Amino acid sequence: MCCSIIGIISSKNVVAPALVDSLKRMEYRGYDSVGVATLATTNRISVRKGIGKVNQVNSSLNLTEMEGFVGIGHSRWATHGGVTDYNAHPHPCCTEDIAVVHNGIIENYLPLKEELVKKGHRFRSETDTEVIAHLLEDHYNASRDIKAAMLETVSQLEGSYAFVAMFANGSLACARLDEPLVIGVSDNAYYASSDVLGFLQYTDQAMFLDNRDIAIIDRDGAHIFTFAGEPVTRGVTKVAWELADVNKGEFAHYTIKEIFEQRTSVKAATYQEEHKIKVFCDTIAAAGNIIVTGSGTSYHTSLITSMAGCRALKKRFEPVMASEFKYNMDSIDKDTVVLAISQSGETADVLSATKLARAAGAKILSIVNVSTSSLARAADVSLAINSGPEIGVAATKSFTGQVSLAYSVLDRISGGRIGFDRDAVSDKITKMLAGSAAIERLVNVTMPKVNDIYLLGRSIHFPIALEGALKMKELAYVHAEGIAAGELKHGPLALMDKNAVVFVLNPDDKTYGDTLSSAHEVKTRGAKIIGISNVSNDIYDAMIEIPKMENELLYPLVEVIPLQLFSYYLALRNNVDPDFPRNLAKSVTVK
Ligand code: G6P
Repeated sequence: MCCSIIGIISSKNVVAPALVDSLKRMEYRGYDSVGVATLATTNRISVRKGIGKVNQVNSSLNLTEMEGFVGIGHSRWATHGGVTDYNAHPHPCCTEDIAVVHNGIIENYLPLKEELVKKGHRFRSETDTEVIAHLLEDHYNASRDIKAAMLETVSQLEGSYAFVAMFANGSLACARLDEPLVIGVSDNAYYASSDVLGFLQYTDQAMFLDNRDIAIIDRDGAHIFTFAGEPVTRGVTKVAWELADVNKGEFAHYTIKEIFEQRTSVKAATYQEEHKIKVFCDTIAAAGNIIVTGSGTSYHTSLITSMAGCRALKKRFEPVMASEFKYNMDSIDKDTVVLAISQSGETADVLSATKLARAAGAKILSIVNVSTSSLARAADVSLAINSGPEIGVAATKSFTGQVSLAYSVLDRISGGRIGFDRDAVSDKITKMLAGSAAIERLVNVTMPKVNDIYLLGRSIHFPIALEGALKMKELAYVHAEGIAAGELKHGPLALMDKNAVVFVLNPDDKTYGDTLSSAHEVKTRGAKIIGISNVSNDIYDAMIEIPKMENELLYPLVEVIPLQLFSYYLALRNNVDPDFPRNLAKSVTVK
């Protein structure tokens, strides 16, 4: 699961309102069911949980009214077990003296469950998580020692996980293996959370747990151990408060707010500390073999970075999807640099790719938005795009931020071969956004209701065709396909008829003539054509004008804007909540 977890121990305040507030702030990570457990004054753990988003479950179960100074909370994005009230977290053990919230996957939960059932444990859910609660119960009953119970439990678990367990004696115990877990520390409370956003409204002091760390938190403080039981200290880091600024402002949704933030985020991405960007650039310049990897939108940035890198540095860059990485390891050696790109810095496939590459001798660079993320910490050098929190599940500002930063790195190494000028790009994006009403009209008035949208582009426009299609799928649930225009005749042409709508990415660069021919081929089959170009042509049934760019590599930064807007307005037309598309999570921390 890619879920949000939070645990709070407070010496002063009832924790339920803060637990619910934290879950709301982290809802973008997962949101099909929600639950809270608190330790009531009677020393009984009480659990309330149900299907729906945080506000829905809170209004039906009054989560915020639960009593207690210690509690845990969870919002879920299901992987093991359907979306049911029982499968929602927290999961109590048989005696209900321990309850657990968990993010990740316990791969060996079935044999563990069988063994526990044989011992008489009663399971109430179909989740992998519930084995943690029963294992803890088993070991705690034997030793009455939380540390011993935690050590025994983690030694039996296989997979990747972060979990927080609440004990009826008022302690919280948590552990992490390949899933994020961070502890917030304030004067009168401790917070254990999957994301700093879970506590940043209360404290900016954070302790990042390392992989294979266990923390036991009680009124005396937080005690940290390795999985081998050795006590360790983890320093307290101050986290940027700006991250806490997550509201929609004047906008109806986070997604549209974040689309408009690109006016400035493309600039913010390029402000970097000199010593870091220098080492980053030197590492790329010295590399024999460069592999660029990412998932989803960040993979599209990897495609663009690779094409632009080859052109600017006259050197081979190879884009590899993070989920395919492990099958393509043969060329990786100590002369290899892997550039891993990720908004969250927590995507499991990306983290696993960097781990494998590191083991094969490669150096790791990363571009992230969350500068405290696991990927940032796993890299030799990591640069952050400084976009601020991206809450909408579909990546928007992080994409243009990643491309802007990659371009400024390549410009720095190549002496300006791309010609990325942050102010000029920001101005052009601002102008594109000023035309948002025209895109809204295109969606609501001009466009017929369609089931299939195709996007054609060649060269550097092809990744934008893929990215535009991804936005339409994610946001509006419309089937959309990005096609390399030259491939049309090798198959997709068979799909073109009067029911198809085709976006043609066609500014007047060296792809122009060929892409125009492709447009003619689909027009002849009756498809409706929407041109995205700086030059008009009668063949387009509708046209979205983009500005002329100095270098064709810069077009992706403006072409993507109307496609993001189009997908957003199409989501609204299709009555879909653009911020929280069904079945998707912002941060996919499972493989
Ligand atoms: C999820 C999101 C996508 C995102 C991808 C990679 O699938 O729904 O929008 O592009 O993860 O995320 P990352 O944080 O690694 O960029």
